[in-house]
Amino acid sequence: MPDVVFRDKEKFYLFLIQAGMFISENSALRNLCSEMVSVNCPKVKSAGHDFADIQEDLKDFIENFNSLSQEVPDNCDRIYIDGCWDIMHSGHFNAIRQAKMLGKTLVVGIHSDEEIMRNKGMPVMNNEERMAMIKACKWVDEVVENAPYSATNEWLDSVNCKYIAHGDDIAINCDGQDAYGILKSLGRFKVIKRTEGISTTSIVGKLLLMTKGNKAAVSEPFVANDIVSQPTFLATTRRIFEFSNKNIKPKGQIVYVDGSFDLFHVGHVETLKKAKSLGDFLIVGVHDDQTVNFYKGSNYPIMNLYERVLNVLAIKYVDEVVIASPWVVTEDLLKSLNISLVVQGTISKLDPNVTQKRKQSLVYEDCQDPYEAPKRLGIYQEVPSERSIETKDIIQRIIDNRLKHLNKYTRSSKKEENYYSDIKTYVEEI
Ligand code: CTP
Repeated sequence: MPDVVFRDKEKFYLFLIQAGMFISENSALRNLCSEMVSVNCPKVKSAGHDFADIQEDLKDFIENFNSLSQEVPDNCDRIYIDGCWDIMHSGHFNAIRQAKMLGKTLVVGIHSDEEIMRNKGMPVMNNEERMAMIKACKWVDEVVENAPYSATNEWLDSVNCKYIAHGDDIAINCDGQDAYGILKSLGRFKVIKRTEGISTTSIVGKLLLMTKGNKAAVSEPFVANDIVSQPTFLATTRRIFEFSNKNIKPKGQIVYVDGSFDLFHVGHVETLKKAKSLGDFLIVGVHDDQTVNFYKGSNYPIMNLYERVLNVLAIKYVDEVVIASPWVVTEDLLKSLNISLVVQGTISKLDPNVTQKRKQSLVYEDCQDPYEAPKRLGIYQEVPSERSIETKDIIQRIIDNRLKHLNKYTRSSKKEENYYSDIKTYVEEI
C-alpha cells in the first residue's frame, strides 16, 4: 500500500505514471486511465498488462483516495501564500499578484521575527513593518500572523485554504528540509513564477557594499562584479500592465505625490494613504534612476525605476503612476493631469541631506523649490510623516548588525546562485 496520500487526481495520475503501471482489468483504474490518455499521457496504455498482484492494493488505494478527496473542503477559491516579506520588493508583490490570480480570496501568512531568525537569519524589517506592507497590498484579502515557516496540512486547513502558492525556488527550513515538502506530497502546492533578478538577499548585498565597518560609506558608487553579474529584473510591459489599475479613469479631486520610493517601506505607504485620503484619485510620480542618483548620489537608487514603479502600483491607495516623473512639479504637469492638490510627507525629497546635494546642482540654481508652482497656486500640502523611518534608517540597521546580515547574505546568496544555475526552469507567469 503506498504510504503517500494523494488528495487530487492530478497527483494520483503522476504517481501512476511514475510507477509505470499498465492497466487492463480494473474498471476504476480504466476510467482514470482513459482520462489520463485523454490528457495525452504517453506512458499509460489501456490494455495488456499483468498487474493482478497489486490489484487489491490499488483497489484500497483508490477507495482511500476517493474518501480523502471528499474530505478536502471545497475551498479551491481560497489561496494561501506565506513569506518573510522582508524589505518588500517587486518580486514579493509579483508573487502575491500571481497567487491572487489562482483563486478568489488570497490569504497571506507572515512569519514572525523569531521564526525568520530560526529558519533563515535576522530580518531587516520587524514584524509590524512587514505586516503593514502586506496589509497595504491591493491583492491581499486576509492576513495571518505568526505563520509557520514550514506550513503543515493542519495549518492550511486552519486558514481554510486548499492550496498554498510559492515561487519556483526551494525554501529550506532549519532542519534542512523543503519547507513545503509535506504540502507538495499532498497535492496542495501551486508553483508560481519567481521573479528574476530581485530578492531581499540582493538588496541586502547592495546595502552591505554601501556600508563599511560601522559607518555608511556612501560617497563612492560600488562596482562589485558579484552584484553586477546577477540576473536582472525584466521590466516587461505585461508586468507593468498586470500591476496597473486597468480601466480606471481619473475622477473627483486628483491628488499628486512624487518621490523616489526607493527601498519601499511603511513610511512611504503611510504617506500614500494620507495623500489618498485628501482626494478621490491618487497619482504618484516616481523619479527616474538618473534623477534620483543626481540628487542622492552614491549608489542610489537601490531599486531601479521599474521596480520602484511596480512597488508603488501594488499599493491599494494608488490609482495611477507617472513613470520617470520630472523632479519639478510644473504648471504644465498640474494641468496635464488635472491635479487639484500636491502632497508631500514631512520627510521628503526636500530632506536636508537631499537638499545638500541639490545645492551643488545647476537645477538648484534654476529652480530652488520643485513645488514652487503648486505653492504659488495654493494647492500644496504637507502631511506629517508619522513613522520616522527613512532609507538611511534601513542602512543603519544593516550597519548595527553587520555581521549577522553578512552571514545571512553569504548563505542566502549561495542558495540563490544555486537556484539560478541548477534549479531554475521556465515557469509561465500568471
Ligand atoms: N518571491 C518571488 N520572487 C522573488 C522573491 C520572492 O516570487 N524575486 C516569492 C517567494 O518564492 C515566496 C514569496 O515571494 O513565494 C515570499 O518569499 P520570502 O519568504 O519573503 O523570501 P524569499 O523567497 O527568500 O525571497 P527574498 O530573498 O526576496 O526575500
